[in-house]
Amino acid sequence: MTYVLYIKNIVRMDKAMDKLVIKGGKELFGSVDIGGAKNAAVAILPAAIMASKDICVIENIPQIEDIECEERIIESLGCKITRIKNSVTIDSTSLNNLNANTEDVRKMRASYYLIGALLGRFKKARVELPGGCAIGVRPIDQHIKGFEALGAKVTIEHGTISVEAENLIGTNIYFDVVSVGATINVMLAATLAEGTTVLENAAKEPHVVDVANFLNTMGANIKGAGTDVIKIVGVDQLSGCSYSVIPDQIEAGTYMIAAAACGGDVTVNNVIPKHLESISAKLLEMGAEVIENDDSITVKSAKGLKGVNIKTLPYPGFPTDVQQPMSALLCVANGRSMINESIWESRFKHIDELKKMGAAVKVEGRVAIIDGVERLTGAIVTATDLRAGAAMVIAGLIADGVTEVTNIEHIDRGYPHIENKFKALGADIVRVSY
Ligand code: EPZ
Repeated sequence: MTYVLYIKNIVRMDKAMDKLVIKGGKELFGSVDIGGAKNAAVAILPAAIMASKDICVIENIPQIEDIECEERIIESLGCKITRIKNSVTIDSTSLNNLNANTEDVRKMRASYYLIGALLGRFKKARVELPGGCAIGVRPIDQHIKGFEALGAKVTIEHGTISVEAENLIGTNIYFDVVSVGATINVMLAATLAEGTTVLENAAKEPHVVDVANFLNTMGANIKGAGTDVIKIVGVDQLSGCSYSVIPDQIEAGTYMIAAAACGGDVTVNNVIPKHLESISAKLLEMGAEVIENDDSITVKSAKGLKGVNIKTLPYPGFPTDVQQPMSALLCVANGRSMINESIWESRFKHIDELKKMGAAVKVEGRVAIIDGVERLTGAIVTATDLRAGAAMVIAGLIADGVTEVTNIEHIDRGYPHIENKFKALGADIVRVSY
């Protein structure tokens, strides 16, 4: 049976709306520190609730809305959370509620990791179906296939998914599509199953590896994360541990692209250059200078970069999450560029916003054909989703005149202190409440 979920595009209405006002045309200089990886952290926090003894102390957790949202959800299950800056402590020994059904659960995609985590530890969970960015149909059939293969009974009723098993028994699971979410979710449950689980056609993203490393630090026995075959030997219980989340590949890529788009000389600190190879390669192909150091990357660029073709692919291919920021840069590159978005079918909604700024782009299905223009011009535009928001900020930074980016609740879900970081690089950008 195939279950398809349509995501809900929920915007916070409980506080004054903010917008970013950007006066474009400034080159960027200096350095920017990258935070912990959002898409690793939003899986590591649910993984932490699998500890039946001791506390987890997790460092390098980014200060973003999705994390705050997830912390509230985890507290609603009976866990105790304390946060000091980027360090989060989770005591899940008092967890007593297996029913995640607050409004926060519906807001964010990654709340689905609670299913795998609770199923692993308690063999039972009820979780409302998740929200997230409106970038296309976001099925969870591969998650369900994995849970069922481990022996769980899965039902969806009234917008809630329920999973339950007498015992979880390890087995071989072949994923029909390469899915970050399904790989992590089934890995969570299998960690506390009896016997050995082998996940084939698994996702290889850095955040998959980070979650596996975190689980192993808690006492799990997982090998092969980062390849397409992951072997999990089930253990009886997991314990708290200390861990530090990897740097955010997508935040880093966004600042690298902004530096190439605006011109100047920017060092992006606290990164793992290997995770950024597909982005570095494209910037080099466009004519930017990209210098890799041990844990930083410097991007230098002058105007006149040339257009390139991009196809988004699972890691180590070009990340879909960087496609939208990259499209803003390609709007002002010389010649024609083509973007083939192979992961999400609706990840071009931001193109209409770029067109308001003078971009020359034609979207045909999953392909965007971009003819580089000499300049973009400031306009009032909206962030249609998280990475679309980053694209509009980059467009505003390179445009002539003033750009206002509205709906930045989306940006706050995934980019910590974006205006402060760009301001420190010399951009003219302010947050305004209205
Ligand atoms: C994760 O989403 C990320 N989100 C996304 O980042 C990212 O775009 C995506 O992976 C791909 O890299 C989080 O980690 C919270 P998938 P996820 O399962 O796990 C199909 C951002 O901007 N599929 O890897 O939901 C699916 O339709 C966000 O930070 C199935 O068919 O993505 C898609 O085409 C947006 N059945 C492809 O697989 C399934 O059961 C990849 O999806 C699951 C997925």
